[in-house]
Amino acid sequence: MNQKIGIIAAIVGVCAVIIGWNIYQHQQARPQTQSISKSSSNSSNSSSSSASQTSKKTPTESNKPLIVFFSRTGQNYGGSNLKIGNTHRIANFIAERTGGDLYEIVPAKDYPKTYDATTAQAQKEQQSNDRPKIKNKMPDVSKYETIFIGYPIWWSEPPMIVLTFLEQVDLKNKKVVPFDTNAGSGFGDSIEILKKAAPKSKFLEGFEIAGSEAAGAKNKVNSWLKSIGY
Ligand SMILES: Cc1cc2nc3c(=O)[nH]c(=O)nc-3n(C[C@H](O)[C@H](O)[C@H](O)COP(=O)(O)O)c2cc1C
Repeated sequence: MNQKIGIIAAIVGVCAVIIGWNIYQHQQARPQTQSISKSSSNSSNSSSSSASQTSKKTPTESNKPLIVFFSRTGQNYGGSNLKIGNTHRIANFIAERTGGDLYEIVPAKDYPKTYDATTAQAQKEQQSNDRPKIKNKMPDVSKYETIFIGYPIWWSEPPMIVLTFLEQVDLKNKKVVPFDTNAGSGFGDSIEILKKAAPKSKFLEGFEIAGSEAAGAKNKVNSWLKSIGY
């Protein structure tokens, strides 16, 4: 009799251990399952599921970047009438992949809607080394380790308002990542100009693309971001 009770107790004990282990494993697996389903729902929102998109890292508050950009709407190079500026589109792709915060440099005085009037004004600003005023409040850059800075190329340089921005924030020891859109000048002289304006920053490899290709550049942007660790 005693032997029977002993055998039953041993079987119950073994079952309890197995059930307990299964419950423990299930609990351990739960957060992982949630993050997998989160990233797969992200990739299903995107137009393509290339390797660069599926390897996207989940940003945390401590490592998310700030994406600063200047971009102009209205008549542009080649006669296109832009509702969203070319550089703005690239900034959006960067924010989508990195989970970073966007900050748009908004001029206190709008640039003209026509391309010719804007090129004339931009040339004047460049020749007189102007610092056009920014309308919106400066972002708190101290919260970020990495700052992306995007702009169109104007007369082979960044628009002068980008320098207004750089001179009002402290980017010492920050990682700075430049990106631009252009009509054939690539980066022009912009990288040297930015480095001079932020001499204590560490510059990472930037990204440039023709403005006419900006709207369809998501995969190129993602490949570049992957190459610099995003
Ligand atoms: C004032 C002005 C000057 C420009 N100068 C150049 C230039 O020197 N080289 C170039 O490749 N593109 C030049 N462009 C074309 C723009 O860089 C290009 O269209 C860019 O994609 C516009 O970006 P956005 O829509 O973000 O403003 C110029 C455009 C403007 C409005």
